[in-house]
Amino acid sequence: MKLIIAANWKMHKTAAETVIFCEQLKRRESEFGGVEVLLCPPFTALAPAASALEGSAIRLGAQNISWEEQGAYTGEIAAPMLKEFGVSHVILGHSERRHIFGEEDVSIRKKLERALQAGLVPILCVGETEAQRKGGETGAVLERQLRAALEGLEGEKVKEMIIAYEPVWAIGSGQAASPGDAADAASLVRRVAEKHLGGGAGGALRVQYGGSVNAGNIGSFVSLPPVNGALVGGASLEVDTFAALVVAAGEAAG
Ligand code: 13P
Repeated sequence: MKLIIAANWKMHKTAAETVIFCEQLKRRESEFGGVEVLLCPPFTALAPAASALEGSAIRLGAQNISWEEQGAYTGEIAAPMLKEFGVSHVILGHSERRHIFGEEDVSIRKKLERALQAGLVPILCVGETEAQRKGGETGAVLERQLRAALEGLEGEKVKEMIIAYEPVWAIGSGQAASPGDAADAASLVRRVAEKHLGGGAGGALRVQYGGSVNAGNIGSFVSLPPVNGALVGGASLEVDTFAALVVAAGEAAG
């Protein structure tokens, strides 16, 4: 499966900083081999990023959407508003949205349905907390999150969907999961996805690992077949660091 490395910038970078990053990254694109690269800047930087990336194969993702299509929902952003700027992907259910902003399985499911209906490719994030891992609940937590999000989902984009396994304790901590644990979790994610999605979609989708990924450790994750890429936070904020990570991923995957 083709690797996909996605940059989740979270609440970093102004529009001006984004344009500089995109122009510099574009110049490095010939080094990326067959690796698919996706940037997920803040909403306000999507339009300038789209212009700066014109003529490039680097794709754009948003970090959230509303489950509604339009209406009286102050502060929300709807899928068609993103598609207008060439956004193709959207991160949903990130642990920061679950844990800091109180997003629950029910709203994540509604957002997934909306994304699929709008023709956006969702990157669904799942992952256990440190206490859940220590309590031996990792498998059960992942199964619960996946079932709530995926059961009976349909749509043209389901097969293109990406699921990111991001253990909460590994995010921003500098302490990544071991490649073996990440691969075990990725296999479980695929098995559960296959159970809940019809039409071979579970076998077709890609599974990323996320949590303290960098140019030095990316190879150990993507060289394991269950892992089809990474969702990268901190190491995606500097062009050189991020480009080195993409190159290392391509080399490791052969
Ligand atoms: P870090 O790479 O900074 O650990 O963040 C991971 C993440 O949350 C990506 O969505």
